[in-house]
This record gives sequence, C-alpha cells and structure tokens, in this order.
Amino acid sequence: MDELRMEREADHRALTALYRDSGLEITEGWIRDNHPVFSVAARKGAMLLGAGTISRRFDRLVLDYLAVREEARGLGLGKRLTECCISYAREAGEDALWLAAREPGFYEHLNAKNTGDTALLEDCRRCPDYLRNCWPKELVFDLKETT
Ligand SMILES: CC(C)(COP(=O)(O)OP(=O)(O)OC[C@H]1O[C@@H](n2cnc3c(N)ncnc32)[C@H](O)[C@@H]1OP(=O)(O)O)[C@@H](O)C(=O)NCCC(=O)NCCS
Repeated sequence: MDELRMEREADHRALTALYRDSGLEITEGWIRDNHPVFSVAARKGAMLLGAGTISRRFDRLVLDYLAVREEARGLGLGKRLTECCISYAREAGEDALWLAAREPGFYEHLNAKNTGDTALLEDCRRCPDYLRNCWPKELVFDLKETT
C-alpha cells in the first residue's frame, strides 16, 4: 500500500484541477496573476489528495488556496497541509500568514484570528457569490503565537 507523502510541489500548475474541482475560484492565469511562492501537495502513489498554495501579495504571505479531495476529507489532511504552509512562512522569517478564507470556520478551528479588516477580500467583492452564497473573512495566523 502506498504511503501518504507531504511534499513541496514546484509545479503550481499541477494543482489547478484540484483547486477548481474543489470549488475554489481559479482562473487560467492564476499563476501569472498571483505569483505563488510555495505549494505543498499530499499524494498517495500518483494520486493527488490535497494541496495548499501561498502567494506573496500586498507585501504579505497569503495562503491563497487549500483543498482536499472530497473522498479524503475529515482525515486531518487539511490540517497537515495548513501546518506545512505555516512552517514555510515561519522559516521564511514571516510573523504572520494571511488568508482570505471562504471556510473561515476551518481556519479559526486551527487558531487563525479574524482581522476585522477586508483588504484581502478585494477580489471577493467582484464575485457574484460574495455575501450571497459565500461569506469570506480575512484571517491571520500569528506565527509568534502559533506553535
Ligand atoms: C476545508 C478543507 C480543506 C478541510 O480539509 P479536511 O482534510 O477535511 O480537514 P481536516 O480533516 O484536516 O480537519 C481538521 C479539523 O478542522 C475541522 N474542520 C474541518 N472543516 C471545518 C469547517 N468547515 N469548519 C470548522 N471546522 C472544520 C475538523 O473537524 C477537524 O477538527 P479536529 O482536528 O478537532 O478533529 C476541505 O473541506 C476542502 O477542501 N474544502 C473545499 C475547498 C475549500 O473550501 N478550501 C478552503 C478555502 S478557504
């Protein structure tokens, strides 16, 4: 049986279908537009089960995308992927990892805090789902606090 591997993914493009199939807003030009700096992928054999991607925007590290394949949810993979992203940000010398979260409850459960601000939700405001079917929040992991 194949072991689960959590590995840095150099080819951000390889994650596009997973993010799109998971319902995240992702365009063909997301790599050009977002400038991702780090991706992590969870795989069993050749099967991609989940992934997360960090970009540098507004001079901050932002966890832009995180998704786990539907059949692999509820097993702790989302949490492990988030922890990998936090480790990357901390090792990069950052004090914080920011999010525009469409599932704020998930990240709040992992100790992210609501900033009360909306600067990172700029793209969300152009989306027809904004405050109709989707209630995103700007959150932050304080890396000085998170263990
Ligand atoms: C959100 C998502 C990544 C969670 O992945 P997952 O692998 O199912 O999550 P985990 O199993 O690691 O859950 C970790 C913990 O968070 C909790 N949790 C999971 N989803 C939650 C939610 N929506 N709200 C609150 N808590 C949640 C779990 O109960 C678990 O708690 P525990 O550690 O106390 O047992 C997954 O549901 C997903 O891919 N959703 C679609 C894409 C998406 O919305 N991504 C987030 C974009 S901001």
